[in-house]
Amino acid sequence: MKTEILLLEEDKIDRDIMKKASNLIKAGELVAFPTETVYGLGADGLNTEAVSKIFKAKGRPSDNPLILHIADPEQLEDLVEEVPEAGRKCIEKFWPGALTLIFKKSRIVPDIISAGLDTVAIRMPDNKIALELIKESNRPIAAPSANTSGKPSPTKAEHVKLDMDGKIPMIIDGGSTGIGLESTVLDLTESIPMVLRPGGVTVEELRELLGNVETDSSITEVDSDLIPKSPGQKYKHYAPKAEMFIYDGEIEKIIHSIREETKIHFENGKKVGIMCTDQTKEFYKQGISISMGNRDDKSSIGHNLFNTIRRLDELDVDIILAESVSMEDMGIAIMNRMLKAADGKIIRVKEE
Ligand code: TXA
Ligand code: MG
Repeated sequence: MKTEILLLEEDKIDRDIMKKASNLIKAGELVAFPTETVYGLGADGLNTEAVSKIFKAKGRPSDNPLILHIADPEQLEDLVEEVPEAGRKCIEKFWPGALTLIFKKSRIVPDIISAGLDTVAIRMPDNKIALELIKESNRPIAAPSANTSGKPSPTKAEHVKLDMDGKIPMIIDGGSTGIGLESTVLDLTESIPMVLRPGGVTVEELRELLGNVETDSSITEVDSDLIPKSPGQKYKHYAPKAEMFIYDGEIEKIIHSIREETKIHFENGKKVGIMCTDQTKEFYKQGISISMGNRDDKSSIGHNLFNTIRRLDELDVDIILAESVSMEDMGIAIMNRMLKAADGKIIRVKEE
């Protein structure tokens, strides 16, 4: 299959391209499109056969449910049993935006979407191309991140092309995605709302709105004994080709340890990739260091994280050493993705 890549600007949407894309969705085909978080791989969310193509193109395990994307909160009515009070508040404050809500599903949601669960994940994305595609297609669009399962989520159309070329008919190139990390997934089906995946909307923001909010304990630990409540969190994720290690502790000690480790690998003829920050980049003279962003502005690190991992892959490094970031704000989402990319390998640096 030939994959067509069409450029589209959020503020100047070409109607012909949008028609072409929505016609593909209506015909049961796949279209990759930008959202404000990462690129999605879209299909008609009410068509089981179309949705099955998503699983095939991604190589995604069938027990991992998908998010339905809507363009208007009114579309919820048909898709869910009820919207609890906490859900109403979240919708008012965060939609359109990077918050996916889990509800009890209605009967029209196909089993393939929910992977057999009695719940469904829904969000209204904050990107005009995504919203137009949903409206023009006139149905909810199922869309996981548009990467091959296990790889970092795509934040640019070229990332989608690397993973999906020849497998899908169309990629809409709407430029680099703003947030760069996936949406926060919040379960509203228990008495206390629970964050199953941290993301674009922070836990602090949710607590400010809803009061008591729990977080699934598997979020910041990679421990095979913990069974995550969000099926997707149990799989290998975001993994670069090279083995990756995270260094955690005081920043001076992190820098010192990464420099020492880099020196050893360098002397052994190995190519070392270092994931650092604007504040620390100057300290790494050996290895290939790439800044993920500004330590004082976590959103800049979120925006660049997946692209940094993909760039190090392209540079064919043998090993990746990454600085940790603190857990406030987007820090939880960033550390969750980094821990999965490193398969839990974290080195706690201490006083000599
Ligand atoms: O930002 C995003 O959320 C992007 C863009 C494209 O919207 N989408 C995305 O989808 O990240 P995906 O499929 O890569 O991740 C969806 C996550 C998975 O961890 C999945 O297990 C979880 O949401 N999920 C989906 N439905 C669920 C349900 N009914 N109960 C619990 N977790 C669910
Ligand atoms: Mg994904």
